[in-house]
Amino acid sequence: MTKPLVAGNWKMHGNTETASNLAAQLAEQWNDHLPVEMVILPPFVHLAAVKAALAKSTIAVGAQNISQHEGGAYTGETSGEMLVDLGCDYVLVGHSERRELFGECSATVAEKFKAAQKVGLTPILCVGESLQQRQQQQTLDVVNGQIAAVIDCVGLHNVCRAVIAYEPVWAIGTGEVASPQQAQQVHSAIRTQLGDAGADTRLLYGGSVKANSAAELFAQSDINGGLVGGASLEAQEFLNIVKLAE
Ligand code: 13P
Repeated sequence: MTKPLVAGNWKMHGNTETASNLAAQLAEQWNDHLPVEMVILPPFVHLAAVKAALAKSTIAVGAQNISQHEGGAYTGETSGEMLVDLGCDYVLVGHSERRELFGECSATVAEKFKAAQKVGLTPILCVGESLQQRQQQQTLDVVNGQIAAVIDCVGLHNVCRAVIAYEPVWAIGTGEVASPQQAQQVHSAIRTQLGDAGADTRLLYGGSVKANSAAELFAQSDINGGLVGGASLEAQEFLNIVKLAE
């Protein structure tokens, strides 16, 4: 059976002290025996402190971005090897904020995905449509197209080994969460696209997930957990959300 996963994307928030404290609180209160995997995704500069604060906890850590390059003269970039060295297991690839604000195109996202798997990191591939695309009935074409670009680069089998997060852009940070039916419709289309090889692939929903909306979302047949932004910055709220994915 697919073990659900809930990841907390801390984005560009906090400092070393708040990051360590939040990680320590999660580690202290997390019940390792729950059949859910918890992953936290702090800013690069807080990864080491967070890893230390998690000590022997089973909570996994990941990064929010990765260079498509293995190493070399790429000022300001962070390679997959560096993330592995810090103890990361996961990395976000293609978050809509990277695509929109930093111009990451589908080809770059696919290269980053490949770079992550090459060093043994599990990519969490983010996909999702804008409000305008939804209004123009393009949602499934956009989402399937974003995934197809990665399949073209690394093959279906490798995409199925990763985690895919459906995050409608209009739901991110807006408080406007997709309805469980809207989310399930897209997750089902992704599952169909992956075919038999993707029967156990973890598909997450992200976009304004809170404890009061998570249960119904996570109950959908093709939703295997969540990617949480704002609500992951508060220990109790995040723990409540993660528990709902059991
Ligand atoms: P919010 O939960 O704050 O809407 O952010 C979602 C997100 O972008 C997670 O990657």
